[in-house]
Amino acid sequence: MTDTLPLPLPVVSAELQSRLRTRRSAPAQALAAPGPSDAELTQILEIGARTPDHGKLSPWRLVVMGPRSRAEVAEQLSGLAERRSLPPKAQAVLAKLTAAPITVLVISSPVPNDKVPVWEQELSAGAVCMNLEHAANAFGYSASWITDWYSFDTEATALFGVRPGERIAGFIHMGTLAQPPLERPRPDLAAIVTRLD
Ligand SMILES: Cc1cc2nc3c(=O)[nH]c(=O)nc-3n(C[C@H](O)[C@H](O)[C@H](O)COP(=O)(O)O)c2cc1C
Repeated sequence: MTDTLPLPLPVVSAELQSRLRTRRSAPAQALAAPGPSDAELTQILEIGARTPDHGKLSPWRLVVMGPRSRAEVAEQLSGLAERRSLPPKAQAVLAKLTAAPITVLVISSPVPNDKVPVWEQELSAGAVCMNLEHAANAFGYSASWITDWYSFDTEATALFGVRPGERIAGFIHMGTLAQPPLERPRPDLAAIVTRLD
């Protein structure tokens, strides 16, 4: 049996519209306590996993990282950057990895399938990232979607438990900002939208 679900609210939600129109990522390094409680995080994860996914493959997995696990990996990443003689910025960006009270690492984990290309499965992982941001916002937290160099380096991704064939879609850092974020320029719709009818 298929469960039925409510239709979208018949009454337009001005508050939801306003929130979506003004939503903004946080500077990751400025995210501080409080972050979501365990109970809130469970609901945020449920919302994140409620994401369109062609073929019901769930081609992604989520790793919840508190401050300790991130600090440990950041130390190893720092050593890796030093061994590789990476530019100083590679060390500096590690502050974005460690600052927030809680982080959800979204790993794209494509499932072999004749009908659903890997590209679509990876897009779905990106959608999970965005849903997690919206969910964190819905519980009153700010969030930031970060990748940085360690998301694209095999030795680095292995430190986060990323397996062969998987890729990091993003680190979704969640917490609270002391200052509201600044707006940033938004695309001119005329430049990106084509209306055919
Ligand atoms: C896939 C993806 C990867 C990103 N990686 C980084 C990153 O490595 N470093 C960074 O400072 N910001 C990163 N960002 C955040 C963007 O630079 C920027 O803050 C964000 O897109 C702002 O969007 P908003 O104002 O609509 O919230 C990333 C964003 C996305 C979507």
